[in-house]
Amino acid sequence: MAELSPIDKAKFVAAKRAAEMVEDGMRVGLGTGSTAAWLVRCLGEMVREDGLKIRGVPTSTRTAELARDVGIEVISLDEARWLDMTIDGADEFDDELNLIKGGGGALLQEKIVATASDQMVVIADVGKQVETLGAFPLPVEVIPFGWQTTKALIEETLISMDVLGRQTSLRMNGGVPYITDEGNHILDLHLNRIGNARQLALVLNQMPGVVENGLFIDICDRVVIGYGDGRVEVRDINEGTVEQERLDFLEEDNLFSDLME
Ligand code: 5RP
Repeated sequence: MAELSPIDKAKFVAAKRAAEMVEDGMRVGLGTGSTAAWLVRCLGEMVREDGLKIRGVPTSTRTAELARDVGIEVISLDEARWLDMTIDGADEFDDELNLIKGGGGALLQEKIVATASDQMVVIADVGKQVETLGAFPLPVEVIPFGWQTTKALIEETLISMDVLGRQTSLRMNGGVPYITDEGNHILDLHLNRIGNARQLALVLNQMPGVVENGLFIDICDRVVIGYGDGRVEVRDINEGTVEQERLDFLEEDNLFSDLME
């Protein structure tokens, strides 16, 4: 078995630490992406081996499939109505725990699910931490009808926004436009630096054709930051606390073998 890269170890320990926050009986929002996939595997193991009783609301068809595969009971958001906790990855997070999400194209369901939760916990390797959001291209979900007009409107609006770049691109997948679970397209906004994320998030969502943007402002409560050497740091924005610990793990663990397949 090939050894896990430091970045994968960092994602794994963040996911494992966050999984420990989940308690019996919880309705849990399950994020999308490679870090969230580690979380779903960890929770699946806790369900199968420790008898943890949870119901999961996935944020994408990919996550739904994985959750069922590992033995988590999957329910829809409409069945759950409200969630105890959502755990998800992020493409960037800043000191205020504002986020850029949507690198995996699931930002719409992710934002709906996170907003419908008592708590949102972000799991991320330390490389996702930034001083100012915007180096990662900001995903914006747009409806296919008139997407080029929407793109032009966004570019024009960006002229008056506090950003460093204004280039936008339609996300592609194998030579054709990427289609989200909701049947929409994604425009990636190459802004380099977002001076006022709150304002930009509001302005983007005012535009006809825009369904949702990947800025998560005041949604995340805690971030679990993983390091390649097994250290984790838990920051709680509401309590103002920072806790550090080291997680021991063996790459020979069954969970790891599963994940490496
Ligand atoms: C998917 C997301 C992901 O959480 C984000 O892209 C991070 O992914 P990864 O954990 O693979 O780095 O927002 O829409």
